[in-house]
Amino acid sequence: MATDDEFPEGTRSLWQDTCDLPTFVPLTRDIEADVCIVGAGIVGLTAALLLTRAGRRVVVLDSHQPGGGNTGRTTAHLSNELDDRYCELARVRGLEAARQAWESHTAAIDCIEAIARDEDIDCDFFRRDGYLFLAPEHTEELLRRELQTVHAFGWRAVELLASAPQFDGPCLRFPDQAQFHPLKYLAGLCAAVVRGGGVIHGDTRVEDVEGGAIVVTKTSQGVHVRSSATIVATCSPICDLFAIHSKQASYTSYVVGLRVPPGSVPPALYWDTGDPYHYVRLQATPAGDVLIVGGEDHKTGQADDGERRFAVLESWARARVPAAQERLYRWSGQVFETLDGLAYIGADPGGAANVFVATGDSGMGMTHGTAAAMMLSAQIVGDKSPWGGLYDPRRRPLRSANEYVRENANVAAQYADWLRPGEVDSVADVAPGCGAILRSGLSRVAVYRDEDGEVHACSAACTHLLGSVSWNHLEKTWDCPCHGSRFDRLGDVIAGPARSGLRVLDPRTLR
Ligand SMILES: Cc1cc2nc3c(=O)[nH]c(=O)nc-3n(C[C@H](O)[C@H](O)[C@H](O)COP(=O)(O)OP(=O)(O)OC[C@H]3O[C@@H](n4cnc5c(N)ncnc54)[C@H](O)[C@@H]3O)c2cc1C
Ligand code: FES
Repeated sequence: MATDDEFPEGTRSLWQDTCDLPTFVPLTRDIEADVCIVGAGIVGLTAALLLTRAGRRVVVLDSHQPGGGNTGRTTAHLSNELDDRYCELARVRGLEAARQAWESHTAAIDCIEAIARDEDIDCDFFRRDGYLFLAPEHTEELLRRELQTVHAFGWRAVELLASAPQFDGPCLRFPDQAQFHPLKYLAGLCAAVVRGGGVIHGDTRVEDVEGGAIVVTKTSQGVHVRSSATIVATCSPICDLFAIHSKQASYTSYVVGLRVPPGSVPPALYWDTGDPYHYVRLQATPAGDVLIVGGEDHKTGQADDGERRFAVLESWARARVPAAQERLYRWSGQVFETLDGLAYIGADPGGAANVFVATGDSGMGMTHGTAAAMMLSAQIVGDKSPWGGLYDPRRRPLRSANEYVRENANVAAQYADWLRPGEVDSVADVAPGCGAILRSGLSRVAVYRDEDGEVHACSAACTHLLGSVSWNHLEKTWDCPCHGSRFDRLGDVIAGPARSGLRVLDPRTLR
């Protein structure tokens, strides 16, 4: 169990530790733009760059600062092999869909490489091989099926090998993958956007996006942006209450970074076939080479045992990489899984005119996100994207119906929390630096006691669709188990679909 002393401010990623991004002032007056972009992660900033290059007046708004979302907590494998496998996509949507997905992820890696080169962004971009090896419960048949599918749609360079460089047993080798430092890349994107005439505002929360011939993007400070189009690039869309969120699920994924001696692990991307799977790569830092190992995912807000998950990841890594030395990093973040393993990119499925969304990263948000920026910027300047149908946010693949029912049954079950007793009987039971749920009559209260002993209380009702939030000891956040909204310890919203904070209560009214 995570001790609250160990993570007083939540975890920090390797990227946050090794790169300072610029900060931007809030928007304080009404303005007009050709395109308003909500969210300054990889999607928002890549779209901002492509649109400024196309001569559009662009304004980017972020509730925090650039890179503060999942782009700062990724592991930044740039891959055109699908996490959920092409053989599975071909089964659900056909071989042509698999081919198009490959084409789009390949184009996204090429786009990142070209942007880094053309904008002179020093972001540790390197081409790497990728190796998919077997989890103990799987057989070579799984690899053969994937190989057969990728060869069938034309990716002939993938090969079956008897053994991956670092990991025992048969594997598939995927050439021409890549890796980079995501925050150095975002810092370069910010500079390029500003150089190109784009405007970025931080600490500017968007509370509503009203579609129409003129889209009105409304901030919590009461100022508006009027634009011909708005891209909602908030990772989990805040413009749509239901349509998307019933088709994707938020998972929390964990990462450890272990120091390794130079040359002890061949530089490559490594993934196993487990579910959840392990993902491994190297990153050079001023402190030496770091082996970055991710996995141990669970549905957001449905487990609070981050410390145990870190320990499992670490021992998994040490068993396979005996040269691994001390742990330098550990962090967690959110990924959004869709019904068919592909992102949702395109016009807002809720029907708001000239509003666009990009979500459902499926663990591949660097490439899905870059492809989204390419597609949406093309659409806004009047070009057609060849992958529009593939990523259409309105789709509901028929062969994924079981998954749809299972995920929504899981969400429905979370509402039973409202009938359960609280985790503590009184506020006196909440230790400094901790949060817990207290029952007060018919309601559930999210109680947090700060390090100085002061008690803060909020309604536990998530402001999206009234799920009951739960405490995340590791990150010191309140996480909603229904669709993954997250709130800080005092109840301010960090991540959607919720757009506003938890209702603050007077702690003096509690036992
Ligand atoms: C542990 C982990 C490992 C991963 N590994 C990989 C990997 O190896 N390869 C890969 O391709 N992908 C990976 N991913 C996925 C990838 O990191 C994400 O999908 C991607 O970073 C999402 O980018 P984004 O721009 O959509 O969102 P974000 O980077 O989350 O940016 C969204 C921004 O929107 C802002 N925002 C939110 N709400 C509002 C609001 N109401 N108003 C204004 N602004 C708002 C936030 O502050 C944030 O800055 C990983 C993710 C995690 C967590
Ligand atoms: S995120 Fe949907 S109810 Fe909380």
